Amino acid sequence: MLGTIEEEPAQLLTSQRVAQLNRGDKPFHVILSQQFSREGIEQLCRLSEMVRRINDDREGSQFLRGTLSHKRAMLYFIQPSTRTFLSFSAACQVLGIPYNEVRNPSTSSEVKGETEDDTVRVLSQYFDLIIMRHPVEGFAERMALMLNGMRRPLPIINGGSGKDQHPTQALLDIYTLYRCFSPRGAERGAATRGSERGAVPRASDRGIPPRFPENFFSGKTIAFVGDLKRGRTVRSLAYLLCRYPGVRMLFVAPPELMIGDDILEYVTRYGIEYEIRHDLRPVIGECNAVYMTRLQDEWDVAGESKSIDYGRYHITREMSGDFKPDLAILHPLPRRHEIDPSLDALPHAKYWEQVRNGMWMRASIIATIFGVDTAITDHYHSYYAH
Ligand code: CP
Repeated sequence: MLGTIEEEPAQLLTSQRVAQLNRGDKPFHVILSQQFSREGIEQLCRLSEMVRRINDDREGSQFLRGTLSHKRAMLYFIQPSTRTFLSFSAACQVLGIPYNEVRNPSTSSEVKGETEDDTVRVLSQYFDLIIMRHPVEGFAERMALMLNGMRRPLPIINGGSGKDQHPTQALLDIYTLYRCFSPRGAERGAATRGSERGAVPRASDRGIPPRFPENFFSGKTIAFVGDLKRGRTVRSLAYLLCRYPGVRMLFVAPPELMIGDDILEYVTRYGIEYEIRHDLRPVIGECNAVYMTRLQDEWDVAGESKSIDYGRYHITREMSGDFKPDLAILHPLPRRHEIDPSLDALPHAKYWEQVRNGMWMRASIIATIFGVDTAITDHYHSYYAH
C-alpha cells in the first residue's frame, strides 16, 4: 500500500513517489526534482520574476507580506547552511510568514531521548510548513509520508537531504539560467556586456516575464564539474535539465567522484546526450554553462578525498580566453578554490546572482504550495504588466 511510513521510498517507482508528494499535478511537499514538469518549472521562474518586481516598491512589498501572514513556518535545519537557511527565512519574510528555527538538536528534547520522528510530529502541531535540511538521504521524504498519514497534513520542503537531493537549489539554478539565456536576459547581457555588471535586470523592468522559448536549452552544453558523486545539487539539477530535449550535459569529475549510474540511466532514458570527461581544460570552450562544485569531503569515511588531485576541476583566469561570449559560470556555493576569485568581476560569473535568485524562487515555491501564486500573478498584471 502506498503512503505508509514502513515503506522505503527509494524502492517505489519515481511516479509512485511523486504521486504521494503532489496534490494533483502540483507539488504539496517539495522533496524531489522529479516532481517538477517543464511547465511547472517555467511557472515558478516567471512567478519569481514577478515576486522580485512586486517586492521592489513599498506597496508591492506590503501586498506580498499580506498574502501568507496567517501561516507559520518551521526551519528545521540540523545540518549546516548559510544560503538555504537565510534565503528561506528571507522568503518567509517577503510573504509575511512568521517562522521559528531549530538548528541545533542539542537544544531540543531530542537530548532527552525524543526521536526525530516525534520531533517532526510535534513541529507539525505548531506550524503550517516545515522546511528541513537533514544529513540522512530520504529523511525529508519519509517525514512527508509520515505527515500525510496524520490528521493535519502539512507540507515539507526539502532544503537538502544527505547526498541525494536539493530540489529548491536546482530550481533556483534553472531560474538563473533562464535569466541568462532567455531573450530578455540575453538583451540585458548584451546591454551590459563588457562591463563588470553582467546580465542583472533593472528593478524598473516592466512587462510580462517571457515564456521559455520552445527550444530552450536546445543546443546548449552544460558542464557539471567536480565532486559529482556526492553533490546533491548536481543530482537535482541533472533531473530538472532532463525536461529540456536537446540539452547536452558534460560530467567532468575524477573517476572516484563521477556522477552516479542512477543519474546516467535517467539521463539516457530521457534521450539526453551526455559525455563523461576527467579534465575541464579541454572542454571549457564548448560550454554555455559550467556548474562548479567543491570537494564534498564532509562525506569522507576515512579521508579518501585527500589523495584526489582536484586541480583539473578548477576554473581559472587562464581559461577565460576560451570562454564562449554567453558562458554562465554557476556554483551552488560555498566555494573553496574551484573558481579563481578574479573571475568574480566578469559578466560570466553568475554565482552571486544565484544567491539572490534563491530568495525569489523560494518565495515562489512557498506561494505556489499555499495557492497564492494566482493572487500574486493577478497583482502583477494589474500593476506592472504594461
Ligand atoms: N547552496 C547551498 O545549499 O548553500 P548552503 O549549504 O549554505 O545552504
